[in-house]
Amino acid sequence: MMDSDAKLIEEILRLKGERNAIILAHNYQLGEVQDIADLVGDSLELSQKAAQTTAEVIVFCGVQFMAETASILCPDKTVLLPDMHAGCPMADMITAEGLRQKKEEHPGATVVCYVNTSAEVKAQSDVCCTSANAVRIVEKLADGREILFVPDQYLGHYISTRTGREMILWPGFCPTHLRIKSQDIIRMKQEHPRARVVVHPECRPEVIALADEVLSTGGICRFAGRTEVEEMIVGTELGIIHRLRKENPDKRFIPASEQAVCPRMKLITLENVLWSLEEMAPEVRVPEEIRLRAKAAVDKMLEVG
Ligand code: 13P
Ligand code: SF4
Repeated sequence: MMDSDAKLIEEILRLKGERNAIILAHNYQLGEVQDIADLVGDSLELSQKAAQTTAEVIVFCGVQFMAETASILCPDKTVLLPDMHAGCPMADMITAEGLRQKKEEHPGATVVCYVNTSAEVKAQSDVCCTSANAVRIVEKLADGREILFVPDQYLGHYISTRTGREMILWPGFCPTHLRIKSQDIIRMKQEHPRARVVVHPECRPEVIALADEVLSTGGICRFAGRTEVEEMIVGTELGIIHRLRKENPDKRFIPASEQAVCPRMKLITLENVLWSLEEMAPEVRVPEEIRLRAKAAVDKMLEVG
């Protein structure tokens, strides 16, 4: 660690105490940002923590929809996103107006929205899900109504194969996960024949078909901790490798593709975390009328867990 980093960290921790703040970081954050967080986790774990914390301020080291979800759950807290430009391109692939039109085409459908959506889109949905609970949530929808799943067509396709439920899929995708190709997995398996292949369900179906485990980022971390396997080929965003190596120093983690980087996740730095705590900005707040409707969809998800 450089001297300048040590100073930044000291200042962040001092201000965090002064402001009664908690720092939540997604598994894709830069290693140095993960290292100062109170919790590093996946979208579900971070929203559960946001819902439970007694801190007055949440510094969200992740992307916009994650900070918005925290604000939906905790309207009395100040939610800070250290860089306002940290949006999720997949979440931007669907608008509230686009969803409204699609619902008109399928008036009886249950709308299941991936958490990677704006608050406005959540407000128009029946139930929210993350990659950790999507299969369980769709399995619970037993009323026989059509299901409209937005916006990730690949996660939607994976849920369909796991549940046997046909779904109408919005054609969104994660540009970062699409960089992982089946040829990458095949090559890595040839180079590391004893390794298990663990991938995120946002990957292409042909990548998922080659995987031993398909898990959320939190699920990948838990799997790495409990498995006897010593070598893993990891098919998701590269930031997770920092946590995996830190928690499992005796195991070997091989990125499926060095190109699987989410540039928006990397916008959060120690510098802007400190600045954010100093200025108490930029703040993410969801208008009350939208928040209440979005909260109904998020609460339904949290009931399932
Ligand atoms: P997780 O909920 O599995 O952490 O996924 C979030 C995400 O944005 C994946 O690209
Ligand atoms: Fe969005 Fe993909 Fe980045 Fe996750 S990795 S935040 S889905 S662009």
